[in-house]
Amino acid sequence: MTTPAPSPAAAAGAPGQGPALAPVLAVDDLHVRFRTDDGHVHAVNGVTFEVRPGESLALVGESGCGKSVTSMTILRLLPSPPTEVPKGTIRYRGDDLLRLSNRQMRRVRGGKVAMIFQDPMTSLNPFLRVGRQLTEAIELHLGLRGAAARARAVEALREVGIPGPETRVDAYPHELSGGMRQRVMIAMALVTGPDLLIADEPTTALDVTIQAQILDLMRRLQRERGMSMILITHDLAVVAGMCTRVVVMYAGRIVEEAPVDDLFDDPRHPYTLALLESVPRLDAALGRRLRPIEGLPPKLTEPPVGCSFAPRCRFVLDRCRTETPWLEPDADGRLRACFVPLRRGRPLAPAGGPAGAGPAAEGAGGST
Ligand SMILES: Nc1ncnc2c1ncn2[C@@H]1O[C@H](COP(=O)(O)OP(=O)(O)OP(=O)(O)O)[C@@H](O)[C@H]1O
Ligand code: SF4
Ligand SMILES: [Mg+2]
Repeated sequence: MTTPAPSPAAAAGAPGQGPALAPVLAVDDLHVRFRTDDGHVHAVNGVTFEVRPGESLALVGESGCGKSVTSMTILRLLPSPPTEVPKGTIRYRGDDLLRLSNRQMRRVRGGKVAMIFQDPMTSLNPFLRVGRQLTEAIELHLGLRGAAARARAVEALREVGIPGPETRVDAYPHELSGGMRQRVMIAMALVTGPDLLIADEPTTALDVTIQAQILDLMRRLQRERGMSMILITHDLAVVAGMCTRVVVMYAGRIVEEAPVDDLFDDPRHPYTLALLESVPRLDAALGRRLRPIEGLPPKLTEPPVGCSFAPRCRFVLDRCRTETPWLEPDADGRLRACFVPLRRGRPLAPAGGPAGAGPAAEGAGGST
């Protein structure tokens, strides 16, 4: 096995992003596992990435690849046991969140770092009026009380486009539609003026029109406030419209990281390539066939030796089954964890194998 490269994102700076600014958040070599009756589930295995001031970073990857576990670990929202974090640091503005006391963490959570969950009902209390839920955060993080806190709550509902906020502030969550509840949750996340927002599938449960409105709203608020954001989504169209940089995860690891245009234009990891080929693209050639990703991700109770993507990879080499590829910069600074350098969907110079990598490479075109 090769040794992990130390903090490749930090070492490489910000590909395509100009001079590196001090990151708002720096996650380094994070490992998260769950103790279960069947053994440990190794959900996050050495994840390293940064979020810079004012940027929108997308976290993408198949279901179960560790996106939510990573984001919940940042805010220390997972119960221990069964969760264990055996290794890693999560620095927010320099402080390692994993080492803060529970009291210090409560001040960060919902204050400077806020989160929007996929299902509003997981973070809204069904027994409390939405106004009270907002004023709790306002009292704790902004120090306002009574009428001033209520006025701020009404203002927060107005900002997220809730009609009649003066009356809706007294509604219970079940009295609101799904779209309204999602807006309330966004209002709760934003009311304290966070400088980092983590949005985990914030619009998946909503219909397309409401989805577009909510994304517009998040984009506008982000621009106005200069807030940084981690956006977790399955929807690559949303990534293209909202984000500046993308981190691609597979089986608990980052396999590629790139500025959004570079990633869509020239994916450097076979999994990213497969992901892009599996979804419709407006910019794709007419008649291009969608190509589902065959096979399943590995069981995280028994992480495979070598590259986790090997059983599904059309470019696989012998060494992929015995050695682990780590995230490293290409010659031009693009980060990918793969032994076969790709350029526009084709192997450039496969290490340890003949050019084109034989039949496994068949069909690999630059169709993305
Ligand atoms: N409490 C738990 N106990 C055991 N395994 C868990 C636990 N919570 C999460 N996992 C596992 O950790 C892995 C990563 O889960 P995670 O929720 O981060 O996936 P995800 O990338 O967010 O997927 P999705 O796109 O479906 O939301 C999955 O295999 C999941 O089954
Ligand atoms: S070429 Fe090898 S290292 Fe790269 S993704 Fe495929 S199996 Fe993994
Ligand atoms: Mg998830």
